[in-house]
Amino acid sequence: MEQFDWLKIKQMAIIWVKEASNQLKASLLETIQVETKSSPDDLVTEMDRKIEQYFLQKIQTHFPSHAFLGEEGMSDEGYFNNDTIWIIDPIDGTTNFVHQQYNFAISVAVYHKGEGKVGLIYDVMNDELYHAVAGEGAYKNEERLEKLTSVDVNKAILGLNARWLLNHTRRYQPFLINIVKNVRGIRSYGSAALEMAYVASGRLDGYISLKLSPWDFAAALVLLNEVGGRYSTFYGEPLAILKSSSVFVGKPQFHEAIIREFVHRS
Ligand code: IPD
Ligand code: CA
Ligand code: CA
Repeated sequence: MEQFDWLKIKQMAIIWVKEASNQLKASLLETIQVETKSSPDDLVTEMDRKIEQYFLQKIQTHFPSHAFLGEEGMSDEGYFNNDTIWIIDPIDGTTNFVHQQYNFAISVAVYHKGEGKVGLIYDVMNDELYHAVAGEGAYKNEERLEKLTSVDVNKAILGLNARWLLNHTRRYQPFLINIVKNVRGIRSYGSAALEMAYVASGRLDGYISLKLSPWDFAAALVLLNEVGGRYSTFYGEPLAILKSSSVFVGKPQFHEAIIREFVHRS
């Protein structure tokens, strides 16, 4: 049976993430080429592609048998058949990277036979590295993250992008409005990976998005497993790691209460 040293793999990934972040910081001093993808608010820069290419090349060199899935499309054909897969978002929060030069992250996860083994989310400008290996605890830099404790819905701070409240034709819209009315506060940072790292570290009590892709949430789930966080689709169904879907992560009792009181009861 093939053996993996996940701690060692994490250490290698940390070195690559730090090196990639230096490239990102250096690029902020230059003029960056920006293009749009599916819509005017879906941005991609030359740096998204360059950083993805950097990770692809590292993984092909050091782990040639592993598969690769990245947001910018440099994925292996048939990656879903491979036991071990790296799932990478080279810049999560590209709009922030372009407009604010702040609050963007590199997200790296390694999954083996469907289980999250390594998760890294690096807040480049704040030098905050959230990292975890399955069964070994989750950390923010050197600090071990505590198990998440309970919070009442009316005392909770929820991460949510206001745009999800706009679509009047969707069935989720009234549930969301009700949730927004009942929590203590709503925050939106523009990087799903960072917002879920904030849930793992207790800065937020929950985070909801109605559409995310594997590279947005893969690393965060590894962190959340280590601190007893809950995750599911917005409707409470299990997440499929290689599929885009709605995502709801949170402190355990808060997650349960929202699904029970606001989603299923509506
Ligand atoms: C986006 C960010 C954003 C979230 C979007 C994601 P990108 O990722 O995480 O906060 O609301 O759904 O697509 O495109 O910057 O990698
Ligand atoms: Ca991205
Ligand atoms: Ca993303």
